[in-house]
Amino acid sequence: MQFMRIPGLIDPHVHLRDPEETQKEDFTTGTRAALAGGYTTLIDMPNNKTPVTTRERLEKKRTLAKEKIVCDVGFHFGSLGDNIDEFAKLQLSNILRANVESREVKDENSSRLRSNNNYLVMGLKLYLNKTTGNYLLGKSHLPKIFASWPSEIPILVHAIDETFDDVLEVVKQTPRKIHLCHVSTKYELSRVIEAKERGLPISCGVTPHHLFLSEEDTKHLGPFGAMKPPLRPRTDVDFLWKNIQAIDLIESDHAPHTIEEKQGVTRAEGLPATRRSLKLASPRSSIDGKEPATGPREVFNVPFGVPGLETTLPLLFTAVSENKLTIGDVIRLCHEGPAKVFNIKTANDTYTEVDTKANYEIKNKNLFTKSKWSPFNGWRVHGKIQRVFLRGKKVFEDGKVLASPGSGKLVTYSS
Ligand code: NCD
Ligand code: ZN
Ligand code: ZN
Repeated sequence: MQFMRIPGLIDPHVHLRDPEETQKEDFTTGTRAALAGGYTTLIDMPNNKTPVTTRERLEKKRTLAKEKIVCDVGFHFGSLGDNIDEFAKLQLSNILRANVESREVKDENSSRLRSNNNYLVMGLKLYLNKTTGNYLLGKSHLPKIFASWPSEIPILVHAIDETFDDVLEVVKQTPRKIHLCHVSTKYELSRVIEAKERGLPISCGVTPHHLFLSEEDTKHLGPFGAMKPPLRPRTDVDFLWKNIQAIDLIESDHAPHTIEEKQGVTRAEGLPATRRSLKLASPRSSIDGKEPATGPREVFNVPFGVPGLETTLPLLFTAVSENKLTIGDVIRLCHEGPAKVFNIKTANDTYTEVDTKANYEIKNKNLFTKSKWSPFNGWRVHGKIQRVFLRGKKVFEDGKVLASPGSGKLVTYSS
């Protein structure tokens, strides 16, 4: 057996669904899935059923998470353009000054109290296109938000097609640390490369499903292949692989929905099958302005998103075994990159051991996520997560999670 030790992985883009949608996932099942996937730090998104756009809602989430998590978890904040006043309430020194819940904050951050630049959240997430959560921000709000949000903390955007360009335009006017989530096309990544060359302070993430699946797979995945952004034509996928060095990090975009939810909505609408076919305009995905050669695309009236925490690292190690990536790339994309963008420091004794020789089949029934399915079900992968240590404590071994709820820590932003 050959165990390789890598730093505990950081996933800055997950949807743990707690509270309100715990039929899909909750803080315990989601963080158990994280450990099983080699991750020790997650950052949870704010598109809960009630968007997390106030400090009060954030505090509720933090309090709940504190009792339930088995790995470390930080949070992104949200905005619909109407909560600018809430931004200042996220700074820890302001909170202490106001003497609100100061005991809890003090306990967690005792070593940081002298600095002003500590915040309860890791980033601000803005949704500029429709996705899960009906949580949509018009671009007219961007300048005000950019000007008001604390400049050291990244702003993350869900921006696809034309809103992608809208965001880049605003960054040119008001340079801010911007993270472009789930970049999936040649067009988008080319624009990122150009913008970086111009010195704009942007980073980008790519999901494992946009690297390992393509539009072709929607045929057999049906509604289980419906996500935002959608799976892309092979030419886009190839471009992402070819330019992997321009990608700052891999984000799983772990977006669990129940099997019933993925199948059910179309049935409820009385459609004959679980999917229907529509002819759509091809997505803009070509830098030279030519439309890519795509056929009719299938559209499913189901919630968007796929689980990903337990399959990302094995898929990446499989790519290593096929010489498509190096171990160094995997560490850069899943640890160093997210650590740099979100200023996260993990302890030296927080690490994951991978059996690089083991190969196994991904099976829905073996997953820890409450949703119990994966678009990679049935895939044979190389590299098995053997053991995970969090601050020196063994928390996962041989397919078993050993950590108990509440043993993970809440992560805050410290500049
Ligand atoms: C995400 C979800 O389900 O919350 N869905 C998705 O298709 N990626 C939301 C998102 O990241 O856009
Ligand atoms: Zn998104
Ligand atoms: Zn997401």
